[in-house]
Amino acid sequence: MDATLSAELERVRQDFRTNLTACTKERFERANIALEEVRTRFFGKKSALQNLLHKLGDLPPDQRKGFGAAVNLLKQEMLRAFEQTQSSLEEQSGAQRLEVERLDSTLPDRPQHLGTLHPTGQVIEEVIAVFGDMGFRAVEGPDVEDDFHNFVALNFPPDHPARQMHDTFYLQGEKRMASEGSSPSSEPWLLRTHTSPVQVRTMLEGDLPIRIIAPGRCYRSDSDQTHTPMFHQVEGLVIDERTHFGHLKSCLSAFVRAFFEQDSVCVRFRPSYFPFTEPSAEMDVACLRKEGALELVAEVSPRSDWLEILGCGMVHPNVLRACNLDPDRYQGFAFGMGVERLAMLKYGIADLRTMFEGDVAWLQHYGFSPLDAPSLLRGLRPQAC
Ligand code: PHE
Repeated sequence: MDATLSAELERVRQDFRTNLTACTKERFERANIALEEVRTRFFGKKSALQNLLHKLGDLPPDQRKGFGAAVNLLKQEMLRAFEQTQSSLEEQSGAQRLEVERLDSTLPDRPQHLGTLHPTGQVIEEVIAVFGDMGFRAVEGPDVEDDFHNFVALNFPPDHPARQMHDTFYLQGEKRMASEGSSPSSEPWLLRTHTSPVQVRTMLEGDLPIRIIAPGRCYRSDSDQTHTPMFHQVEGLVIDERTHFGHLKSCLSAFVRAFFEQDSVCVRFRPSYFPFTEPSAEMDVACLRKEGALELVAEVSPRSDWLEILGCGMVHPNVLRACNLDPDRYQGFAFGMGVERLAMLKYGIADLRTMFEGDVAWLQHYGFSPLDAPSLLRGLRPQAC
């Protein structure tokens, strides 16, 4: 065959190969288009092969046969290569689609609305953030307690009238031997009536100095407009060698300012009584009643009221002794605050009972974004949902 003609055929072959290889590198959707382009360009009416066949008539008869056969051979070869590429691309793209469009029917449904954090949980996180910044560690204790940790070690002797104030839920059934320090009779388990037993557990660990807060659930057999049988408290305890009442006052005043994010909050400490602290006090904040809800005020006025938000005091020497600490060496202060009350005051919730109803519409209104953890740096109050 004429050298120029075979060079021509070789050029078509190379051109075709390059174009076909380029198709395989592309993604299927585009490759499909590219493949169609190759098909029309190399096998269509105006293709180079078709042009060559048209030239057949102009060739000297002795060359016609050989050239015609060569063109047909090349066409067969190109068709085979084309079909191979096409089916391999289809296969690849099928696998790819299976991968991309895979449906895992075991995945949970994705509801339209994100859940919200309940104000109680939100406030606990905020209290932890504020005290965390002051160097307090958050710890937890069990909800089911014994007489020793809930009462005896906290200086509530048996038959002490203060026990009646606590309306304790005792658990029926299994009794246990009273712990060290209490009477030798067997004692029932009980639901803790306050978070103060966590003070006892922490002191008994003996890792001093102590600076902890302990959030958690508490239970009292009491139910009316301002009380629910289950509620939340955050306990605080500081034990060191030189702690005094001034530390307690400044620590709690600083907490209130940081927690309510207001520079001036009016607070007062009123003398009170708890068996486990001496002296004892209750801390009140000045507030006004607005549309049923209470609002903090920066100044006391004839229209303002005082609202108690926590109990506190210096840890009683008997408590230190019950927890194996020497009261001549160690002193400290403790406090316990009601989480629901803090939440109602900070977020303008008028009725305590709504906090326990689990009403979705209420939660949409008062709940918080679960993805914004409160921090002092970014602000305690993240986006309300
Ligand atoms: N445990 C007390 C209560 O439940 C609060 C408190 C805690 C008071 C710590 C003083 C010290 O009312």
